[in-house]
Amino acid sequence: MNPLNKDSEKKKYIIAKYNSTSSFYDDRYKNIQNSKFQLLLRDSKFDNKILLDAGCGTGLLFEFFLRSNQQIYDEKLKYIGLDISWKMLKQFLHKITKVSSIKHPNLILGDIENLPFREEKIHQIFAVTSLQNLHDIKKGLRELFRVGRQGTSLNLSILKKNLNLDNIDSYLKSEIVDLNLIRLERVEDVIIQGTLLKKK
Ligand SMILES: C[S@@+](CC[C@H](N)C(=O)[O-])C[C@H]1O[C@@H](n2cnc3c(N)ncnc32)[C@H](O)[C@@H]1O
Repeated sequence: MNPLNKDSEKKKYIIAKYNSTSSFYDDRYKNIQNSKFQLLLRDSKFDNKILLDAGCGTGLLFEFFLRSNQQIYDEKLKYIGLDISWKMLKQFLHKITKVSSIKHPNLILGDIENLPFREEKIHQIFAVTSLQNLHDIKKGLRELFRVGRQGTSLNLSILKKNLNLDNIDSYLKSEIVDLNLIRLERVEDVIIQGTLLKKK
């Protein structure tokens, strides 16, 4: 059998890390994640049809939506949560099934760097504190941009620690119109928002 490459090794490590911390993730990170959601959602509109939460974890963003915007379980808006850790998804499912009115949360066990969607299917993309886990952030961004449509709204929040922002900055500038990059001292992430511009 071939040895694992660096990419697969990192993924195995990340999966094990989040599987093992899933049961106490919310207790530890709920407040800090909620402060990031508040920043990301300041100007968001939910008239879009398909929303992807890439690296959704235990569903804290989904719960935030539920508290602030009931539309999340209307027919008009389809939420898709994708994560590489099945135990994080299990926590998500466990919480959601307690809310009886939500029958079918769309949760997918998958990898941001190899998204299981066809081109141009997603109208709104969130990736909150997930992209810094990737072996190759640009590959993940390329995948998000591939599945996003022209005009898709992008809402990314990436852990500043060890992030080489200059490296991805020019790529972001070439793909995102009205790129809005915020570095706030009170949150540990860089917030990146804008509208996806697809080259014809
Ligand atoms: C810090 S948690 C953030 C979870 C959630 N977005 C939140 O705000 O609470 C990072 C999440 O990214 C997921 N993740 C890491 N690498 C991933 C990948 N390649 N594809 C999909 N999800 C990934 C982890 O399993 C974990 O659930």
